[in-house]
Amino acid sequence: MEDQTMDFSIKSADSKNSLATIKTDCIVVGVYEDRKLTSQATELDNQGIISNALENGDIDGKPGSSLLLREPSTATSRRVLLVGLGKKPEISEKDFRQAIDAAIKALSQTTVAHLLIALPLNNVSGRDVSWSIYSVLSAFHALLYRSDALKSEKGPSPKIQKAAFYIPSAEVTNAKKALAQAKAITDGMSLTQDLGNLPANICTPSYLAKQARSLAKKYKFDIEVLDKKQIEALKMGSFLSVAKGSDEPPKFIVLKHMNGKSKEAPVVLVGKGITFDSGGISLKPGAAMDEMKYDMCGAASVLGTFRAIGELNLKQNIIGIIPACENMPSGRANKPGDIVTSMSGQTIEILNTDAEGRLILCDALTYAEKFHPETVIDIATLTGSCIVALGHYNSGLFTRLDEAHDTLANDLIAAAKGSNDPVWRMPIEEAYQEQLKSNFADMANIGGQPAGCVTAACFLERFTKKYTWAHLDIAGTAWKSGTAKGATGRPVPLLCTWLINREKR
Ligand code: BES
Ligand code: MN
Ligand code: ZN
Repeated sequence: MEDQTMDFSIKSADSKNSLATIKTDCIVVGVYEDRKLTSQATELDNQGIISNALENGDIDGKPGSSLLLREPSTATSRRVLLVGLGKKPEISEKDFRQAIDAAIKALSQTTVAHLLIALPLNNVSGRDVSWSIYSVLSAFHALLYRSDALKSEKGPSPKIQKAAFYIPSAEVTNAKKALAQAKAITDGMSLTQDLGNLPANICTPSYLAKQARSLAKKYKFDIEVLDKKQIEALKMGSFLSVAKGSDEPPKFIVLKHMNGKSKEAPVVLVGKGITFDSGGISLKPGAAMDEMKYDMCGAASVLGTFRAIGELNLKQNIIGIIPACENMPSGRANKPGDIVTSMSGQTIEILNTDAEGRLILCDALTYAEKFHPETVIDIATLTGSCIVALGHYNSGLFTRLDEAHDTLANDLIAAAKGSNDPVWRMPIEEAYQEQLKSNFADMANIGGQPAGCVTAACFLERFTKKYTWAHLDIAGTAWKSGTAKGATGRPVPLLCTWLINREKR
């Protein structure tokens, strides 16, 4: 179930390709407030068609405003769509995104199939052309992504098929690279969304393994899928304790893209792959329990990011690890009070079987040690508490508080800002570790209600002492509920952007 793909390209703004002579269904150009034109608008204005529209007040140039001019006398294009960019000269990120959304909204009410985007992509304050191109692609992605693969009747397919960016010739090389990156990110998001949206009776641990295998085949990743016996041999007692409550066999998926220098320590991405979280014996209430099919969105974000890694063939060593199983109640399921021994040797008292994410991740984090990683990032729909703390806007970013981790956190925050996939840094401190005390084992798997997302991160921290590590709690950001129910594809933009930025240093 592929997304409806749109074809994007870069058109060089040179003498052969003047705005007036380009053949297309529609050219999108910007106008500012106070009747000021962008350079592209000036180019198309020779008989005053655009300045007149501003003079007459048909468009005021405010962000979000748009005006469609049909059969313009000054261009070969059948239409010109004016969009407001706010005050000259610098466009804010928010205004630019609003302008793009307005353009897409106006276009979707037309029959425009081919589009030329002639906006001042390098005038967004603090951002470059590459950011602007990404923002346009992600807006189109939001419009075009469909989740009706399992419906008998599909929604109407959008008319828009092709869009070209009109780019000054000196910037064409850069823009092409930026376009490839943006395309890889939105395609990665599509995969993450498709997997997230699939129901748990289809998207099982075996299904995730199958998807990983097909990615590996397509992009020549190394892959290992460990089955229950092999997981037992590794002594992942904590992961296995969750898996044993279900009839679906667990899978432990390891993907490797080793395209960096042979001695370069890898980045490891670990994704929580609970394909359904019923809570286990500590059963969840029925309302909205269907949404626990999304409890594998961390795993799906690792696979989506690997799709982008493969598309871009990044020159880095990157390993993806996915512990995948169901969390179900049964005669073989974990019981509150059970004590298990993790792969690290540390013992865990399972006071609540619904705190299962940390139980599968801790063994994956220990397994990651064998790669002597430079950095490990785990991605997990880990706690309802993170939603209480940060809502559905920011993902929670947790790291230790030393210098190396400050650097990692700041790099992740920068990547998050640059990809409109925000995170907020949260603490990991000794004081919270107290809450995980158990009378009978090395630790309990829950720390009580206060700061639940922090104690969950503190639990994971105990398994990450050997490397630099960050934890992303995406419980509030991986999917939307209600009538807009659906996976968001987050934090694929953040992860991809962070990896791409890493290559620049
Ligand atoms: N997968 C859930 C977290 C979750 C809940 C994400 C709701 C998104 C929406 C996780 O396994 C879980 O159940 N966590 C418990 C932990 C608690 C028992 C300490 C929670 O957050 O309630
Ligand atoms: Mn749970
Ligand atoms: Zn869960």
